[in-house]
Amino acid sequence: MKDNTTPYPLHVAVIMDGNGRWAQARGKPRLFGHQEGGKRVRDIVQACPQLGVKYLTVFAFSTENWKRTQTEVSGLMTLFKRYIIRESKSLRDNGVCVRFIGDRIRLEKKLVEMMDRLEKLTADNDMVHLTIAINYGGRDEVARATKRLSRDIKSGKLDPEQVDAETLASYLDTYVLPDPDLVIRTSGEARISNFLLWQSAYSEYEFIDTLWPDFTPEIFAGILENFAKRERRFGAVTG
Ligand code: IPE
Ligand code: IPE
Ligand code: MG
Repeated sequence: MKDNTTPYPLHVAVIMDGNGRWAQARGKPRLFGHQEGGKRVRDIVQACPQLGVKYLTVFAFSTENWKRTQTEVSGLMTLFKRYIIRESKSLRDNGVCVRFIGDRIRLEKKLVEMMDRLEKLTADNDMVHLTIAINYGGRDEVARATKRLSRDIKSGKLDPEQVDAETLASYLDTYVLPDPDLVIRTSGEARISNFLLWQSAYSEYEFIDTLWPDFTPEIFAGILENFAKRERRFGAVTG
């Protein structure tokens, strides 16, 4: 776990919420809000290097979001494909290393291929590490990790007596990422909706009323300044 030696967060995770309400307030379909929300991802990723954010993880689609209408779900999948087509080149050229977390099994084959390709295309980049969570749920991730870990125990590759928190973390989708220092949720809801349950054990939280399509690099910078003033204790006594 990272100690509190840097005032700025190394890893920021964002629950991008409020697209639907943003669109509805304008008398538009929910997908219009998702489309606008996608553009904000681009702005925020671009702002990361100058704000000192090395890792950015965004929640794009949860394991619970399948409960939405077929129109909204398939519209979102189309937007993910469009985002990849539109952004691949600039992500690669701007030093962004892209990863996807979540269970790919339920996703359309074409989309999964595009995700794989973008990961490969940007694998050597190291300026910003962008992780996009699609069909991601914290509980689902822990369950899938446990399944793989159990298989390794069964096959003799892993000794059950050696299993500790670090072992389990190494089986999670996020195994290459540091834990998030800060989790931001837009749109006024103060809940985590199954996002990074394990990894956010010691994260700072920031819940803001702004709807995701209204989120700007300036708002982002303000939140990071607030973060720098917080005292993180990690269970110890300080000061
Ligand atoms: C977040 O916006 C994006 C996704 C969950 C895909 P919402 O679609 O949840 O927007 P609201 O919360 O209904 O306004
Ligand atoms: C969380 O938002 C998921 C994403 C932002 C992708 P939701 O809008 O799905 O969360 P709830 O339903 O309000 O908890
Ligand atoms: Mg929502």
